Amino acid sequence: MRTLIKNLNTQKGETVTINGWVHVARDQGKMAFFDFRDMTGTVQGVVFGKPEVLEIAKTLRPEWVVAVTGIVNERPEKMVKAGVLNGDIELEITEITVLNTATTPAFELTESTIGINERVRLENRYVDLRTDRLQKNLRMRHAVAKLTRDILDDEGFTEIETPLFTKSTPEGARDYVVPARLYPGQFYALPQSPQQYKQLLMAGGIERYFQFAKCMRDEDTRGDRQPEFTQMDMEMSFATEDEIMAINEKVLIAIVEKLYPEKRIQTVPFPRITYAEAMEKHGSDRPDLREDKTDDNLLAFAWVVDWPFFEKTADSDDPQATGEWTFTHNPFSLSKPEHIENLKNKTNIGDIMASQYDITLNGLEIGGGSIRAHDPEILKSILQILGHSDEKIEKNFGHMLRALGSGTPPHGGIAWGFDRLMMILQNEPNIREVIAFPKTGEGRDLMMDSPSPISDQQLGELNIKLDLPVEE
Ligand code: AMO
Repeated sequence: MRTLIKNLNTQKGETVTINGWVHVARDQGKMAFFDFRDMTGTVQGVVFGKPEVLEIAKTLRPEWVVAVTGIVNERPEKMVKAGVLNGDIELEITEITVLNTATTPAFELTESTIGINERVRLENRYVDLRTDRLQKNLRMRHAVAKLTRDILDDEGFTEIETPLFTKSTPEGARDYVVPARLYPGQFYALPQSPQQYKQLLMAGGIERYFQFAKCMRDEDTRGDRQPEFTQMDMEMSFATEDEIMAINEKVLIAIVEKLYPEKRIQTVPFPRITYAEAMEKHGSDRPDLREDKTDDNLLAFAWVVDWPFFEKTADSDDPQATGEWTFTHNPFSLSKPEHIENLKNKTNIGDIMASQYDITLNGLEIGGGSIRAHDPEILKSILQILGHSDEKIEKNFGHMLRALGSGTPPHGGIAWGFDRLMMILQNEPNIREVIAFPKTGEGRDLMMDSPSPISDQQLGELNIKLDLPVEE
């Protein structure tokens, strides 16, 4: 029976077997000292006075996988390391079985690898993941996701998966596309977010939906951006802007209070600041409101509200719009109630304000959402303002217009950038540190060596002919 390393101190004086990795090996001639590691922690082990065990012990190298049997001894008083897991015990080893050997790791795993060349870390991601810091990041990511799920479940939300093979949606970035073998020349698009599906779930009477959703956007990568990232995406029917914001605040506060008790939220309820005020006072639409920017444990959440609905295309890049105007956030949003007539009549376009809210944390945008247009005539009017022809509207958005016309309740929602939230909570400098298998800044998976060419046979099956520039 295996004992987890964290439980060893409940078995003092007993003979136990642990399974794990050789974390540190120190050969001292007649004795050998080790630190062993499993997913729950580390413990010191020692071999002395047993020549046959010592012989095996001397062959062990870091990262070998072992089963170790021994007696859990209390350390002599002056050897006790107070406040450290297993600082008061050591394992007197009686038997060692090597379960697997290991190549020499490309870097030391006994301390944080943040200073190691990132290419080397990403090529050896499975080894890097064994380090304490990345283990903690992934476990806390799980804990935050679980708590979020539990609270939303209590609040009557249902987690529903939406398709990954979908149709190009206007989210503002370029789509990743997947060739459809059965339909030569046609492509699925990978979702930039579940935006349309979650609205269609509201049309479907779900009323309260959420999902930890993978989103794909073909845009330039940077520290807080990945081509493939995770949103905590939600949508509610019959809810006001205030109600949606309140439930999100409740979940975020619970996350900090329950899982990050060492952290302090600067202001509760989260302050609300208008887009105009943010730009005027802070020169940014995601202002950093922290009183003390040197404090790792200070969290300054803020809502940024009252966004203009449209801006001139020169200011932005909506790949689908051809008109003079583009949306600042989301073409499916509704305006503020007092501007609905302007939306319908396409008047005073530059002055129309959206029912849109972003949530920022310490100067980063960690989420955004809006109340949506649930009247098909209003959505149509918005798409016309964006310069879509009636033919294009029918082709690209006909399903949305028909769904809204089928009895869709008023609704709205939000999506958090879950990687960004975890990056800040874990005090990490970029989102790659909180993602198990991230891409590089150039969008490559160095461990899998992806993207990579596919065979001529695969291309043939997909009816694809490449037209690549000739290499010089
Ligand atoms: P938006 O496009 O603002 O809204 O995305 C929501 C949040 O997702 C995060 N985010 C990213 N994180 C990592 N890498 C990226 N490339 C990336 N792009 C965005 C940000 C952002 O705030 N459908 C709407 C939401 C809604 O209206 O409900 C949407 O996707 O933290």
